[in-house]
Amino acid sequence: MAKFKKRTYYVKWKCIIISDNYAIRSKDLTKKFGNIIAVNNLNLKIPYGITYGLLGPNGAGKTTTVRMLNAIISPTAGTAEVVGYDIITQSKQVKINCGFLPESPGLYQKLTAKEFLEFVGELYYLPKEVISSRIEELLDIFDLEGRENDLLEGYSRGMKQKVCLCAALIQDPKMIFLDEPTSNLDPAAARMVKDLISDLAKKADKTIFICTHLLDSAEELCDLIGIIDKGELKVEGSPKEIIDSVNAKDLEDAYLKIMGVSRIEDLLAWREEVPSNMEKEKKKKKKKKK
Ligand SMILES: Nc1ncnc2c1ncn2[C@@H]1O[C@H](COP(=O)(O)OP(=O)(O)OP(=O)(O)O)[C@@H](O)[C@H]1O
Ligand SMILES: [Mg+2]
Repeated sequence: MAKFKKRTYYVKWKCIIISDNYAIRSKDLTKKFGNIIAVNNLNLKIPYGITYGLLGPNGAGKTTTVRMLNAIISPTAGTAEVVGYDIITQSKQVKINCGFLPESPGLYQKLTAKEFLEFVGELYYLPKEVISSRIEELLDIFDLEGRENDLLEGYSRGMKQKVCLCAALIQDPKMIFLDEPTSNLDPAAARMVKDLISDLAKKADKTIFICTHLLDSAEELCDLIGIIDKGELKVEGSPKEIIDSVNAKDLEDAYLKIMGVSRIEDLLAWREEVPSNMEKEKKKKKKKKK
């Protein structure tokens, strides 16, 4: 694996000296589902205060990794510490200290957005007055004010995604996991979420772990990126390091080179080499005429 072993990460606004104090440190983290090895000996060291992006193709193991790091599912082997807590023996503390936007969140359709967020706040043992003020603040940020008393079953997909983001942030967690945070969102809402992620990292000093297929967003937001394939970490580094390592023009270009994915021109090159059936027919007709 092409690794970028630097002890100091220079990010846009500050310089983080890596100490032994990591927000996430995993050791040979592995998850098997029957014969499928979803995550294979994953070793991560993610410093506090950075935005980490986990990229990779469908089925690479991103969601499985995030679910293990949030103590939602247990690893088959290996372990990890998240914000100082062991995901196996201290799973409750991990959950209390982490906000999580799942890939396919389940919502209680018969609750209103406000009731749902109150319920989530209570799960985190937040005092009632804190819950109310956080809900007000979040509904305002996500432009959901005025709809808070509507049942979730009547919300659009994007609106539901926004409610789930509110739920992930309600307890003002140290560490935030976002699995495809901008899926289903309209361009303005996606921009707002990207700005929010950037603000949470820069101004509120949160550690953020994002899984995404949106490589331009990853390049813009992430200080450190890991590319995972078939459960194994292939590459890790800052966007610039990854781009430079393969002489690419941007992260998308680098990703395609690293993953060995052919560009569309390459995929269609056969059209020039192999004449189409129509062309073959034309040639036959010409020969007959002669
Ligand atoms: N509960 C499960 N039972 C069986 N197999 C599973 C389960 N969850 C995940 N897998 C398998 O583990 C592998 C990794 O899946 P995962 O959802 O982590 O991928 P991903 O990188 O998040 O993909 P995507 O980009 O499509 O969201 C896949 O082969 C998937 O089929
Ligand atoms: Mg996934």
